[in-house]
Amino acid sequence: MIRMDSVTKRYPDGTVAVDHLSLEIPDRAITVLVGPSGCGKTTTLRMINRMVEPTEGTILLDGEDLGRQPVTTLRRSMGYVIQNAGLFQHRTILDNIATVPRMIGWGKQKSRERAAELMERVGLDASLGKRYPYQLSGGQQQRVGVARALAADPPVLLMDEPFSAVDPVVRKGLQDELLRIQDELGKTIVFVTHDIDEAIKLGTMVAVMRTGGRLAQFAPPAELLSDPADEFVEDFLGADRGIRRLSFFPSAGLELTRAPVVRADAAGPPPAAAGAPYLLVTDADDRPLGWARPEDLTAGSVDAARLLSHGRPFVPGTDSLRAALDCAVLSPAGWAVAVDDGGRVTGVVSQQTIAEAIRAAHDRTAAQQTPGAGSADVTKVAP
Ligand SMILES: Nc1ncnc2c1ncn2[C@@H]1O[C@H](COP(=O)(O)OP(=O)(O)OP(=O)(O)O)[C@@H](O)[C@H]1O
Ligand SMILES: [Mg+2]
Repeated sequence: MIRMDSVTKRYPDGTVAVDHLSLEIPDRAITVLVGPSGCGKTTTLRMINRMVEPTEGTILLDGEDLGRQPVTTLRRSMGYVIQNAGLFQHRTILDNIATVPRMIGWGKQKSRERAAELMERVGLDASLGKRYPYQLSGGQQQRVGVARALAADPPVLLMDEPFSAVDPVVRKGLQDELLRIQDELGKTIVFVTHDIDEAIKLGTMVAVMRTGGRLAQFAPPAELLSDPADEFVEDFLGADRGIRRLSFFPSAGLELTRAPVVRADAAGPPPAAAGAPYLLVTDADDRPLGWARPEDLTAGSVDAARLLSHGRPFVPGTDSLRAALDCAVLSPAGWAVAVDDGGRVTGVVSQQTIAEAIRAAHDRTAAQQTPGAGSADVTKVAP
């Protein structure tokens, strides 16, 4: 564990970049430092690998004072990734990734093999290995930056706005990739961003910092959304806090019904659906086609042009209550469509049932958060 004890950094010109910061950064998890520009995120990160020395306070790594450890040993145990990847422009991709292994004395062959293995791990095609950084897209360069930081298998990864310079679609891909790599490798990651959505998506723990280098709140993302410490944190979290929080509640327990579900080739509306204002029509493989009014169904055939959109179905067990609610509000019937992994309809669920599940989830979390009940056990599910 990395532990910061009342750490302050005052630059020679008097600027206090970090002010009495105390943090316990858990092992094998992603801790995100987030906050407005100039609030001391980069300074904090750099104090962890001693690119910047604290003015006051101590940083402990597994109980030992960082200040007493040789800088070279320390840096080798901590991979570092920055915005725009910071690659060596005159070296090939393979050689960029092999930099640290070469530096610590691995042979050329072994280093290259390691680099090739890492390219695969971060989702880069082997054919790119011989190229130079300028021949890669921004997103690909960022992947190389991550591979290079992982090359010597350091237990700690420090990442300073690594995905800020790429467009939102590429950025989402990089974030998903990081979560996947983290699942496999279990590194201790300290990740800096000024994007609160990125912090909420990636963080196991999130430290919100405010200008002047002070800690505003340190909590798991679900708790930030449910209980912001003050107005600054609440403002920083932005709109839709309640809706975004639903991403942390699983949809697995929702009670589904098949009553209003009918196949396009069926002889007519199912008797169980009598009185339902809309019916969900599926194809012969149970895939959803859309909602129809009962009177628009003639036995054995369906006018596809008259079907109303079913929104984006959710997968119970994989998706969150947020996904289920989104599907329900988009459907004309106010019903969300549930499908299995293969996209086949397993049932539908009403807005009202979802609302009850949301209330129950809130109550459960509140009970877990009361003193003595232990910390909230909210799992992260797909939004
Ligand atoms: N070498 C330096 N000398 C003096 N002041 C500095 C130095 N480096 C940073 N600062 C100041 O310290 C404060 C914190 O800077 P830091 O780079 O840690 O912020 P940040 O949160 O990473 O910001 P950004 O989101 O813009 O990257 C800022 O006011 C900055 O101007
Ligand atoms: Mg910075």
